[in-house]
Amino acid sequence: MKFYLLFPYLAYLALAIWPLPTTYEHGDTVLWLSEDTSFDWAGAGDVRSFTVQDFNDFNFRTKSNAHANKQESAQDGYRRRRKRDVEAPSGDEMIEYAIYSAKRTIFTKNFVPWKFHPRNWTESDPADGVYISSISIEMLEDDPEDIAKPLAGTVNESYKLELTEDGDVSITANSSVGILRGLTTFTQLFYQHSAGGAYTPLAPVTISDAPRFSHRGINLDVSRNYFSPKDLERTMDALAYNKMNRFHLHVTDGQSWPLEIPSLPSLSQKGAYRPDLVYTADNFADLQYYAALQGVELITEIDMPGHTSSIALSYPELIAAYNVQPDWDTYCAEPPCGTLKLNSTAVYDFLEALWDDLLPRVYPFSAYFHTGGDEVNKHAYEEDDTVESSDYAVLQPLMQKFIDRNHEQIRAAGLTPIVWEEMLLEWNLTLGEDVIVQSWRSDKAVAQIVGKGHKALAGNYQYWYLDCGKGQWLNFDPSVSGQYWPYQDYCAPFHNWRLAYSYDPLGSVPESAQHLVLGGEAHMWAEQTDPVNVDRMIWPRGSAVAEILWSGAKDDQGRNRSQIDAAPRLSEMRERLVARGVGAEPIQMPYCTMQGTVCQLGYHR
Ligand SMILES: *[C@@H]1O[C@H](CO)[C@@H](O)[C@H](O)[C@H]1NC(C)=O
Ligand SMILES: *[C@@H]1O[C@H](CO)[C@@H](O)[C@H](O)[C@H]1NC(C)=O
Ligand SMILES: *[C@@H]1O[C@H](CO)[C@@H](O)[C@H](O)[C@H]1NC(C)=O
Ligand SMILES: *[C@@H]1O[C@H](CO)[C@@H](O)[C@H](O)[C@H]1NC(C)=O
Ligand SMILES: *[C@@H]1O[C@H](CO)[C@@H](O)[C@H](O)[C@H]1NC(C)=O
Ligand SMILES: *[C@@H]1O[C@H](CO)[C@@H](O)[C@H](O)[C@H]1NC(C)=O
Repeated sequence: MKFYLLFPYLAYLALAIWPLPTTYEHGDTVLWLSEDTSFDWAGAGDVRSFTVQDFNDFNFRTKSNAHANKQESAQDGYRRRRKRDVEAPSGDEMIEYAIYSAKRTIFTKNFVPWKFHPRNWTESDPADGVYISSISIEMLEDDPEDIAKPLAGTVNESYKLELTEDGDVSITANSSVGILRGLTTFTQLFYQHSAGGAYTPLAPVTISDAPRFSHRGINLDVSRNYFSPKDLERTMDALAYNKMNRFHLHVTDGQSWPLEIPSLPSLSQKGAYRPDLVYTADNFADLQYYAALQGVELITEIDMPGHTSSIALSYPELIAAYNVQPDWDTYCAEPPCGTLKLNSTAVYDFLEALWDDLLPRVYPFSAYFHTGGDEVNKHAYEEDDTVESSDYAVLQPLMQKFIDRNHEQIRAAGLTPIVWEEMLLEWNLTLGEDVIVQSWRSDKAVAQIVGKGHKALAGNYQYWYLDCGKGQWLNFDPSVSGQYWPYQDYCAPFHNWRLAYSYDPLGSVPESAQHLVLGGEAHMWAEQTDPVNVDRMIWPRGSAVAEILWSGAKDDQGRNRSQIDAAPRLSEMRERLVARGVGAEPIQMPYCTMQGTVCQLGYHR
């Protein structure tokens, strides 16, 4: 990456843009943006102009005084526009929403960047401002058919952004999603002025950008704790703002089943923590649609055959080793134990009904479906009256049959299966070539997965588990508590952003197999995370992960990315997230960000 910096004091500027573009050149001319400037979009044939007023449709319940209401009305607007439950947004709708969203970000969710300048900094004077005169958006190619629900690699997210010193802006891309990414970058060039208005101090700007990995996601566990649809929408907004494109919803687990399955209503009626802490079929469609609108694919995971004890609350006959106590740890990783029986026609009938109901509601919005498969404990099957064995020789063929039947039904519904690594590496199952294997336990596992010819998702728990280091959530009896002092969890310590940022998804993978690593995900397991702390648990560490996945773990010289380059930009991204209503944590104090490089240990000599 090249920087053209004309005045040294500008070195204090954080240089905006997270994640870092492939190439990024800028100057130091100030340009202002007026709310009246239209975004001219040469979409499917004809040029359309958008100004703020054009978004009345998104704003049908506008109460212009209240920030929160504005956001809500936009979301209600998209709901109203949505063709009931069954159709993903078109590329045109995505771009329309992205223009609306870019304007809202620049003019109402922006920040005054005092933390990135020395104490005696004076803002540029709006009086002698030159204004941006035109913004043109151009798509160079037609969208592929599945623009809202692509398989990895089928949508080109690259874009080019040009901002001339005279104030002409052009954003070009090969797809609607590329335009979305370009508009996101565009918003990050602008700051709020303390006297009102928005300006960029960086003109002229030339950016050419494309993601390093095609699968860039956050996995949120909504079973251990319940999160409202609003919480999930806020998380998706933040994720899209980091140019991530996958939101993996670990929607059920042993502790609760919050997903409504209309044909099997007791699953959530009895399995949710409370009957009202449920994602209804409407909520679920809305969430998937809202993700797609921002170029994010929501990937639903129903983890099985382990992690299913919440099914026992409605269908006790399907679950073995349910809530074994007190020595639960022989039978499962977390209480309450419970696993779907492995040799049961009742279980197979249940699965058929479950998938028949759910998969057609996923199909309009995603190319994928995740069937879990982590941490299956063989001892649970000693308690399974259809098997009564923990011998792998007995269990393995049954597990193969179980996975095969699920994956057949998933393929028949037009979806591609994803599984956790244990199915391949611990149970040695034969998986279809199409199956994506998600790794969490080690880099060696990623290498083994691609070594077997499968596509892999990285996300080593020692780097990208965001829950780690909070201490145990289990209590210890006084008779043993001394042994467990100081009560760290298995993956302590806390994984700070620098650790997340140091992870290379390709770390252990030979060059010849790197194309099989589609990308990865950061994981937010929710035993000790709920709506109160979820923002600060995910952000800005999730942003560190987003940059590795978008920009790659190495810089353009092939070196590990520098924390010194990243920290001021990440601090700035944190301010942008906060301005958007996301409670992201600070990573440094203003003293550091105001002074450039003073908060540093070790200098390159
Ligand atoms: C203002 O900042 C500049 C550059 O950082 C410095 O040289 C100058 O001494 C400062 N002036 C005051 C009044 O602090
Ligand atoms: C996407 O466009 C970029 C140029 O910006 C090009 O290098 C790349 O090959 C394209 N990718 C695909 C999958 O077509
Ligand atoms: C569009 O894709 C082509 C290659 O398929 C590439 O040369 C071009 O740079 C891309 N344009 C943008 C804006 O990414
Ligand atoms: C699975 O169930 C069938 C039918 O009940 C039974 O014949 C068979 O022995 C069982 N398999 C095992 C491994 O227990
Ligand atoms: C899978 O293979 C590994 C290594 O050969 C072995 O340790 C493990 O027991 C096998 N698992 C099953 C379920 O057969
Ligand atoms: C770069 O990062 C990797 C971890 O991804 C680490 O093993 C390696 O030592 C680092 N290289 C240098 C030169 O610091």
